[in-house]
Amino acid sequence: MDSIVIKTTGDGSKTLFHAKLNEHYHSIHGALTESRHVFIQHGLSLYYSSGMRNEISILEIGLGTGLNAALTMSKADELITRVHYTALETHPVNSDILFQMEYDKILSTKEFEALTLIHSADWEKRVETAPFFSFLKLNIPVQDFDSKEHFDIIYFDAFAPEKQPEMWTEAIFKSCFDWLIPGGILVSYCAKGQFKRDLKSVGFDVKKYPGPPGKREMTVAVKPIFSESPDTNTD
Ligand SMILES: C[S@@+](CC[C@H](N)C(=O)[O-])C[C@H]1O[C@@H](n2cnc3c(N)ncnc32)[C@H](O)[C@@H]1O
Repeated sequence: MDSIVIKTTGDGSKTLFHAKLNEHYHSIHGALTESRHVFIQHGLSLYYSSGMRNEISILEIGLGTGLNAALTMSKADELITRVHYTALETHPVNSDILFQMEYDKILSTKEFEALTLIHSADWEKRVETAPFFSFLKLNIPVQDFDSKEHFDIIYFDAFAPEKQPEMWTEAIFKSCFDWLIPGGILVSYCAKGQFKRDLKSVGFDVKKYPGPPGKREMTVAVKPIFSESPDTNTD
């Protein structure tokens, strides 16, 4: 992890910069703002409000600093909704680096406690980190993930397509489609045309929403309740 550097973003929260990839883990316009806007507001909250579910399962592709997971754990408690969270990560962030990010200064006490639990959890073992939250982190690439479980929401938080193109393939989007329940959603900060076309071609209905600061749009892709074969979908 020697190519990882801590950077302060536009809202005062910190992110990591991956020097080898020349890429940040979050938006430089505001790491915390982006995480709340994309994954909590347009992921968990949007999905919750569509059906007032009292149990939701989430797959995160790219756990990174654990910020999305911690905010989700805190939100689950607020919504009084049980969340089963599974996160994939190939390069776990060193806990010394996480400590230096000073998230205790910008998160609520509840969110920071959640972050601490996320990081102290064992790998490859589902744990009950809170009354409304079960958590499993897997040290495997998404390309090797083979899920028997189905998810309501996928947080697709890979590095940008131009930095890590192997994460943005139709094969991975097809797997995501298969891992979701009908009506489930994939949410991403990315709104690139090729991404949206690839999502459509594997069967998703693609919706765009205003992005967080610095980004015009973001994407929510819905797995239709009654799926047509992608081949017959001419939209
Ligand atoms: C944009 S960062 C994720 C930020 C993270 N969600 C957060 O809240 O800090 C992308 C993450 O994907 C991870 N990653 C890279 N290749 C991966 C792969 N093949 N499968 C799963 N995760 C991968 C990286 O190590 C990195 O932590």
